[in-house]
Amino acid sequence: MLLGQEISIYLVRLIDDNLTQLKKLNDDIFSRQYSDRYYADALASGELTKLAYHNYTCVGAIACRCEKKEDGAVRVYIMTLGVLAPYRRLGIGTRLMNHVLDLSSKENISEVYLHVVADNGDAINFYKKFGFEKTETIGNYYRSSESGVKDGYVFTKRLVIVKEQEVPEGKDANTDKKCETSSALLKLKR
Ligand code: ACO
Repeated sequence: MLLGQEISIYLVRLIDDNLTQLKKLNDDIFSRQYSDRYYADALASGELTKLAYHNYTCVGAIACRCEKKEDGAVRVYIMTLGVLAPYRRLGIGTRLMNHVLDLSSKENISEVYLHVVADNGDAINFYKKFGFEKTETIGNYYRSSESGVKDGYVFTKRLVIVKEQEVPEGKDANTDKKCETSSALLKLKR
């Protein structure tokens, strides 16, 4: 229906008021209910979780969680990325992924990773295009009544860390940040 069309898309931050949009989208795309923890993590990730709108319709989303590794480094976990079927191959997934990768780079986050079902060739093609590499195979990772038991892959993208600039005395280190730093990232970095 929309093949070859250029459509205008805008990204909106996840807030309490549009949480039901993400729930509906996940229901449509992944046919599953996510836990309260998933939605709490998505809300806490601030600008890292975005809904994609075409006109007034929510047609896609990327939902992330910020994690602190044992060595203290912060990494971003993409919990879900999905676009409604009629809106696929129009660059919406690209918009959402670029947003998260750009923001992660700006925040000097060294790693973005995710899990994907081993037979989800479409998504794997998509992730490879963005430079993600398979870093682990987990046997029997996914279980569902419809699809049975399936292996999962971990795909990871390492980002180049830009050395932090020295902050002149008396100046707040965050004042000149180009992007709005999410409170979740700030807390994790402390
Ligand atoms: N087959 C082959 N390559 C593909 C496909 C596909 N079906 N879809 C995307 N790609 C690749 C292509 O290289 C494409 O570029 P091109 O169209 O110029 O050839 C490129 O990715 C970018 O495609 P977009 O249009 O930006 O991606 P889209 O908006 O369609 O979103 C997504 C991709 C999110 C994977 C979508 O197919 C989707 O929602 N799938 C169902 C849900 C899903 O499987 N999500 C990932 C699960 S894993 C997780 O959530 C962490």
